This record gives sequence, C-alpha cells and structure tokens, in this order.
Amino acid sequence: MAQEHVQIFDTTLRDGEQVPGCKLDTKSKLVIAERLDLLGVDIIEAGFPVSSPGDFNSVEEISKIVKNATVCGLTRAVENDIKVAAEALSHAKRPRIHTGIGTSDSHIKFKFNSNREAIIERAVAAVSYAKSFVEDVEFYAEDAGRTDNEFLARVCEAVVKAGATVLNIPDTTGYCLPEEYGAKIKYLKENVTGIHKAVLSCHCHNDLGLATANSIAGILNGARQIECTINGIGERAGNTSLEEVVMIMRQHPDLNLDTRINSKLLYSTSQLVSDSMGMMVQPNKAVVGANAFAHSSGIHQDGVIKNRETYEIMDPHDVGVTESAIVLTARSGRAALAYRAKNVGFELDKLQLDKVYKEFLKLADTQKEINDEDIPKIIKASGISLV
Ligand code: KIV
Ligand code: ZN
Repeated sequence: MAQEHVQIFDTTLRDGEQVPGCKLDTKSKLVIAERLDLLGVDIIEAGFPVSSPGDFNSVEEISKIVKNATVCGLTRAVENDIKVAAEALSHAKRPRIHTGIGTSDSHIKFKFNSNREAIIERAVAAVSYAKSFVEDVEFYAEDAGRTDNEFLARVCEAVVKAGATVLNIPDTTGYCLPEEYGAKIKYLKENVTGIHKAVLSCHCHNDLGLATANSIAGILNGARQIECTINGIGERAGNTSLEEVVMIMRQHPDLNLDTRINSKLLYSTSQLVSDSMGMMVQPNKAVVGANAFAHSSGIHQDGVIKNRETYEIMDPHDVGVTESAIVLTARSGRAALAYRAKNVGFELDKLQLDKVYKEFLKLADTQKEINDEDIPKIIKASGISLV
C-alpha cells in the first residue's frame, strides 16, 4: 500500500526561537533555513514579520533563498500584520500566510473581552484579507486544545469557506491527552462541511511531555501536517520534536504514513540548531541525544555487540549518527571491555581478559567512564605486556 504523505511544517525559526535567550540573527536564520530546505521539510515558518524589523528582514531574506519549501509568516488576525507578512513573503516561490485567533472561552473572555460570534467574524475577515495577497492561507485556532469541539468546528467551517487551505489545531498549552487530541481531529474531519478542501494540521506543545504522542494521535485520525521544531525547542516546555515524529513514521511502516525528510541529516541539523542557539540537546533526547545510541550496562552491551537489533530499534546511520557507542562504566561486562580494547588495537584472549577485567573494575569504581586512553594503562596494570 502506498504511503500517504504527512507534511512537515517546521517552526524552529518562529515558535522554536521563542525560547528565552536563544534569539538568532538573520545570518544564523539563513543558515538554518537553507539546512531545513535540504532536510526536506515542506514548510518553513520563517518568523512573525510584524513583530520587529529584524524578524521582517529575516522572513524576507529567507524567502529569497529557499528553493523547495513553502515559506510561511505568522500574523495575528489583524490587517496590518497580514499586510506586513505579505510584503515580507513577496520574494518567496511558495508563500503562505499563517493567521489566526484564540478560540477557547478563556482566550475569548480574557484576551479579547469578546464573544464567540465576534471571534468567527474576525477569523473570517483575517482569512479573506490574507487571501487577497496569497493563495495559501493557514488558519490557527489558538488554544484549540481547550476549545469546545462544536464551536471549533463552526470556526473551521467558516474559515474554510473563506478560503483557508490549512486548519491548524494547536494544543497551545500542551493540555490534551493523546486520545482527546485524536478525537478532536476526528470530530473536525466528520463535522466540518468542506473539510476536504483543507489540510488539518497538528501543533502540539510539550507542557506535559505529550507533544509527540498528541501529534501522532492527530495524524492517525486524519491530520496530514505536523508543526514541529528541531530538538523540540520552543516556548516553555517546547514544541513537538521533528526528529521524533519523522522517525516514528519511518520505524512504523505499517502506519502507511511518511514524510519527505532525509533522515540522514537529522543528527547534523540537530547539532546545527543547538550550536546556533547555544542550547544543548539533553543527552537522553530521543533520536538525536548523545546517549540515544549509547549502551552502558553489561547485559545490553553484550547483546548489541552480538547483534545491534537486540537493543536498538533504529539504525544510527539512518539518522546520521556514525555508530552505536559502547560506553565503559562499572556496569559494563567483559564483552564490552574486549570490544573496546580490540577497537584500540588490543586483542585479548580469555585468560588475559579475566585479568584485565579485574583491573578495569578497580578503575571503573573510581571514575564515571573509562576512556580509550585508560585501556592501555589498565592492561599494563594487569601485568600483561603491551608489545
Ligand atoms: O501554540 C500556538 O497556538 C501557536 C500559534 C500562534 C500557531 O504557536
Ligand atoms: Zn505554538
């Protein structure tokens, strides 16, 4: 069965860049945008043009250099925002305006001091105005995660009628459970007249650590775009992590869903974003963390040395990591020690290995990790000649 395409909407340069202290200048944004284009993302959200002259400039320059991806600019449901975004995107081969408004009762009451009918009117006006500049208009219903489904469906129906090509359903506060978010997408699929004219998009935040699970629940229920960032960076606890959703689809071909991402570029892109923003990737981060393919316990190491698949569900080469790491600690066994010793040029027979292992444990109990340069010292201490 042919795989259905799920579009990857990368918002590293917009929602991702909202991480406090991680602001990027235009030059760094251009380098990242070029890499995202090479990586194969379908849409690059380049910024929020009205927010500052610097952001306007970044969106404009990115629009000039991106070859394949759609370039998108964020706006509020405000005419001037939309006009400025259209101007910033004027050089893009494929421009998209991303406009929207809060739809939850909390946003309607506290942010806008308004009512549901007036919000629908503003949403429709924003989409109609954006359509006067570009064909591709994405609408976001901010805080859709906490918006009553019936009202959300009414908003979606109205904006699709006004010409929205994509409906973004953000779980802005990261509140939803996967079942709840999936059910929301299903409800919209089944209850919005004209839904076939628009792509439903998942935009999930990670406040409860559920952004990836919610996005997957969304596509399993009919959404065909995921909004995500490299390394899952973003406002508060971050956004859905691009590398996670891409590899979930790759590792589960039975889902019949795939993206155009060149997964071999995932690790280097993660490093590029981390270096540019000065924001380290947590070592245990799925797919791209330093420990994602590192094995330190004796039982696991023995298995991986015999056959990588015993403890790895992904081939590290598929995400651009050169090889699995066998880390030597006090929890490691003889198999791991023999393997690492061989890598640095010492082939040990069984008797030698027993002796060296005793010395190894002595040292391993005094330091966190045993490195390549420790190995000859341990062999020497065990009384075995190095020559
Ligand atoms: O989280 C959110 O609701 C957003 C919108 C502005 C798309 O980032
Ligand atoms: Zn967001």
